[in-house]
Amino acid sequence: MDDFDFENRIVSPTEIMGDNDSDNPLRPRRLDDYIGQEKVKQNLSVFIEAAKQRHETLDHVLLYGPPGLGKTTLSGIIANELNVNLRITSGPAIEKPGDLAAILTNLNEGDVLFIDEIHRISRAVEEILYPAMEDFAIDIVTGKGQMAASYHLPLPQFTLVGATTRAGQLTAPLRDRFGVCLRLELYTPEELAKIVTRSASILNIETEPDGALEIASRSRGTPRIANRLLKRVRDFAQVMSNGVITLETSRIALERLEIDELGLDANDRRMLQAIIKFYRGGPVGLETLAATIGEEAITIEDVIEPYLMQIGFLNRTPKGRCITRAACLHLGYDLPDVQESQIKFE
Ligand code: ADE
Repeated sequence: MDDFDFENRIVSPTEIMGDNDSDNPLRPRRLDDYIGQEKVKQNLSVFIEAAKQRHETLDHVLLYGPPGLGKTTLSGIIANELNVNLRITSGPAIEKPGDLAAILTNLNEGDVLFIDEIHRISRAVEEILYPAMEDFAIDIVTGKGQMAASYHLPLPQFTLVGATTRAGQLTAPLRDRFGVCLRLELYTPEELAKIVTRSASILNIETEPDGALEIASRSRGTPRIANRLLKRVRDFAQVMSNGVITLETSRIALERLEIDELGLDANDRRMLQAIIKFYRGGPVGLETLAATIGEEAITIEDVIEPYLMQIGFLNRTPKGRCITRAACLHLGYDLPDVQESQIKFE
């Protein structure tokens, strides 16, 4: 089977170059400009307002959910709404406890510290994080043996915003130290169409509503993908239809990019086809499937599956992954090709 390149495909929800520049003009800066995630927004606005009224720092916030849904954007909004600075880092970037100590001691009172992929920090770093989050202090040990000395260093009060695609991988003590846990959901096509329209107007691209909805419907519930597709469709529109994104240009452009009506690309289709062809529709264990398509299990779980499950194409069962009837029909397979008993009929 061909090698997969899930990370760099145009419908990958993980970041590729240019997506995440901190001066990205497409990022909303205020809660009012942030489209979708209504429950998260409503709760967050109350917590922010209450903290401001009490002149206290906001409790630590954990954001979790699939990649590309706006966790970094939300952390920027939280900092803006609180009128404080934002410091951004990530779990893998904090290699040693000293790296975290350096970041923490450089914060100003009330600042927001955003740690992306917080599930990837090491245990040693996590040990520093506990007292920092709970008591706004760290204990630093210098020297060894008889020369060892320990210092208790107070820190400014700050708000930690942690982001993860896998809340289940956080240790319980870390999870418990977040006062606010917010789960981000995949966006509806209507919400994504609003985001595409907003982004188009910022980028001075003329879009017709059904052109924007077409891009939205093929964006796997993910704003990062919607904004990326918008830029590519613009290229086609510029060359084909005076720069205006119409339904027609969207359809032609997305077809040329090999993204189907549901936002699946050739790699998605090949993964689903592998389940049909090699495992008669499933169940197939995650690790087996990962080996079959040459992809990491974690990428399948975090990046590929959430959308396929949302559109009812895949089920996770205790015995493994099973394809659904809807997916078979979409891919043009006859149902008898698949073990009927293993297909969940909705
Ligand atoms: N751009 C990316 N995500 C967005 C969102 N949720 N609202 C508005 N614009 C966005």
